[in-house]
Amino acid sequence: MMTAMMKPLSRVLWLGCVLVFCFQVLVPCGLPGACGLDNGLAMTPTMGWLHWERFMCNVNCQEEPDSCISEKLFLQIAEIMASDGWKDVGYEYICIDDCWMAPERDSKGRLQADPKRFPGGIRRLANYVHSKGLKLGIYADVGNKTCAGFPGSFGYYDIDAQTFADWGVDLLKFDGCYCDSIQHLAEGYKQMSLALNRTGRSIVYSCEWPLYMWPIFKPNYTEIREYCNHWRNFADIYDSWQSIRNTLDWTSSNQKIIVPVAGPGGWNDPDMLVIGNFGLSRDQQITQMALWAIMAAPLLMSNDLRHISPEAKALLQDKDVIAINQDRLGRQGYRLRKENNFEVWERPLLNLAWAVAIVNLQEIGGPRSYTISVTSLGRGLACNPDCLITELLPEKRKLGFYEWTSSLKTQINPTGTVLLRLERTSSVQFSYSAVSDSL
Ligand code: GLA
Repeated sequence: MMTAMMKPLSRVLWLGCVLVFCFQVLVPCGLPGACGLDNGLAMTPTMGWLHWERFMCNVNCQEEPDSCISEKLFLQIAEIMASDGWKDVGYEYICIDDCWMAPERDSKGRLQADPKRFPGGIRRLANYVHSKGLKLGIYADVGNKTCAGFPGSFGYYDIDAQTFADWGVDLLKFDGCYCDSIQHLAEGYKQMSLALNRTGRSIVYSCEWPLYMWPIFKPNYTEIREYCNHWRNFADIYDSWQSIRNTLDWTSSNQKIIVPVAGPGGWNDPDMLVIGNFGLSRDQQITQMALWAIMAAPLLMSNDLRHISPEAKALLQDKDVIAINQDRLGRQGYRLRKENNFEVWERPLLNLAWAVAIVNLQEIGGPRSYTISVTSLGRGLACNPDCLITELLPEKRKLGFYEWTSSLKTQINPTGTVLLRLERTSSVQFSYSAVSDSL
């Protein structure tokens, strides 16, 4: 069970170090029962771009030079992120996923980038990304191999953390393939967190720890939050409506467990935004954007920013929707109701405002109307005694004032969503804690 790194330390000394380190690293985060990884990062959900869903493990640069995993791809995407408004609305991290590595470590045991596909190495790529005012993410794996079969970090956590820090990396996505036991999985995720911290560099730590634990037993989310800035819970996202639906279904079915633990510094990660690709209709893209905002999800796009429609770009760059995702109260939303193939989700925001998303899940017929009494929203307080409601998606328009006793009627396309923002108009101030009883 002990790794090579831990062997020279006696168990007592090791425990002592861990305890001292925990006191330095972990401080209460203000959420009941949940302490966060105190690296000062991800105070709002991470925003950026990640190559996996769109570009996968394409290493054939001979035949597909524009879509293979190479420094050229990341240089081009970084350039566009900086020049095409992406950085301005908050997309900051450009992240490499699997398949960047050479098949072997170097003579000193360090990971190295594939020399043909990354001739300048990761250091030079990081310098370029930083020169554009952006940050660089990289990928590694807690086990013996990455999911695509490249070298894993098991037994090399300190060396790899230091290598990434030396290169100027700003985020690590740490996968969980090829790990031989659940103990190694948990210890590995913790050790990498501590190793990253020891480098002294600010590196966002993106985990898949719970995803790999669920088949064996229910993850301890309080513990996961102590070590990770965000964590994947559920299967990989695909460019399809079925995949979006499965992700939403999993999230709402498990919301009692996962929603309370999310907050500044630590977020549930329902995986990448696939808006701007091939599989989702306009309405389905709206649903993904709206619900990822409600879920306080990291917004990591996986698409080709060099070829994206103006509609997809406008949706991904919608400042009002991004403002909901990035709301500083940092509370994840939840599904409030499911009836007649509609779902109502809501999320508390700063200053007693609320975001509400109504999804029409019916895949037959045309637009359907849904009427909701505003008393049922925001735990009865969103419109007490009245509120101003603005529709953000699919159209941007003020719907006007609603009194506590009034109803709101919406019309929603099949597989589409109406996203609303509710602001209290009253000067009566309730303290948030008085209404934020647990789910
Ligand atoms: C796993 C992860 C994906 C991606 C691939 C890469 O499936 O869940 O997000 O990183 O590995 O091989």
